[in-house]
Amino acid sequence: MRQSSLVVVANRLPLDDNAAPDGACEWRRSPGGLASALHAILQQTPATWIGWDGGIDTAPALPDIGTLRIRPVALSEEELRGYYEGFANSTLWPLYHDAVEQPVFDRGWWETYRDVNRRFAEAAAEVAEPGAAIWVQDYHLQLVPQLLRELRPDVLIGFFLHVPFPPPELFMQLPRRSELLRGMLGADLVGFQRPQAAHNVAQLAVKLFGARTTDDQITLDGRVVRTRAFPISIDVAEMQALAARPDVVGHAEQLRADLGQPRRVLLSVDRLDYTKGIEHRLTAYSELLRDGRVKVRDTVMVQVAVPSRERVDSYRVLRDRIEGEVGRINGEYGRVGEPAIHYLNQSFDRAELAALYQTADVMVVTPLRDGMNLVAKEFVAARAANTGALVLSEFAGAAAELEDAFLVNPHDVDGLKTTLLQAMDADPADLERRMTAMREHLATHDILAWARAYLTALDHTGRLAAGLRR
Ligand code: G6P
Repeated sequence: MRQSSLVVVANRLPLDDNAAPDGACEWRRSPGGLASALHAILQQTPATWIGWDGGIDTAPALPDIGTLRIRPVALSEEELRGYYEGFANSTLWPLYHDAVEQPVFDRGWWETYRDVNRRFAEAAAEVAEPGAAIWVQDYHLQLVPQLLRELRPDVLIGFFLHVPFPPPELFMQLPRRSELLRGMLGADLVGFQRPQAAHNVAQLAVKLFGARTTDDQITLDGRVVRTRAFPISIDVAEMQALAARPDVVGHAEQLRADLGQPRRVLLSVDRLDYTKGIEHRLTAYSELLRDGRVKVRDTVMVQVAVPSRERVDSYRVLRDRIEGEVGRINGEYGRVGEPAIHYLNQSFDRAELAALYQTADVMVVTPLRDGMNLVAKEFVAARAANTGALVLSEFAGAAAELEDAFLVNPHDVDGLKTTLLQAMDADPADLERRMTAMREHLATHDILAWARAYLTALDHTGRLAAGLRR
């Protein structure tokens, strides 16, 4: 077994198996921000990525991506249900997102979650060279840091939570709260998107274990765990380059023409998830149409809803509700050749997204709760001409950085309507000022800066960070 000095452990591999219509297999980039973000910078680093390939009972031998070795972990049907669809995505995911959907506490899922976490930890322990750094990602693998500490006391262990960490009173609902917290605190450095998450964890460590804490560390059983916020970002240069490609620019022009230029375009791109606030957004838009403050003659909404976690009940129910509502709105307000909403329940590749981002007059990113939201950052990166408005939820991690967006509370439908109108009617000079400021921020806060900051904090020497390239 070849070993690496840097091992990344994430539920998903950066590629997943996408069965092509002719039955052949092709590999495409995995959905969601985590895979997109990390994939960009690890391709030129001699590292190993351990994760699930998206299939059932499969662990295909996968080619390296540049210098990055890929090591799949197979999941059985039962593991998929108990670990991924169950404990990770029906218990932790809703609970960590303010319980905007009711978390399900099923005692059987816990055992599977723990067993699968052990398998990931064992796979990582096997490929880590002596003194290596192992960087564990996200809520699916929260027990892995402590398991690794037992298996490989010689390695440096990092953990990064891509999603929000909930307020203590919500976390305390978890039947297995102590084990979960201890699992994560097995790391040397725990990173979060926002400082509030670190405060929440520190409070819980005091309450549950009597730990000693300061602003950025927790002392537990005589060991120090450092905690800090490292807001994640995107591959800004990649999105800028895509957006400037002549074929992408041409595609964007075609899309605008297809959408009935000069209609104003409101664009949303989300995984089809109840945390994304899609229903609130549809309500606001539909009321604007009802009140006659927006007319399909001059405005159109494009909602991309990327299929996600489709076997989980709450996601199935949500899809039905959204599709019913889109049908109702189009039925009531659309005209022949002029629908009120274009709804696309599909995945788009990066170049198509770059084209779509350029068609938008107003990008509407209004999650009810989101760890970061990289779509907001991608939109900004794609707008080289400094045009267009970003309407952004206060409850997305990105709002702390993109302060020049039109910030909004998506629960407040009246406020959302007012903000959408403000963004649609904004003075171009104001939009240019806002976009310029947001683009300046992103120029120095890209994915490489994020990973370097994290890994330098992990190993103190800068050795790990020096290997990163984009
Ligand atoms: C969020 C999570 C990621 C996850 C992604 C896509 O961004 O933080 O860990 O990979 O959603 O979800 P999926 O269930 O398809 O992996």
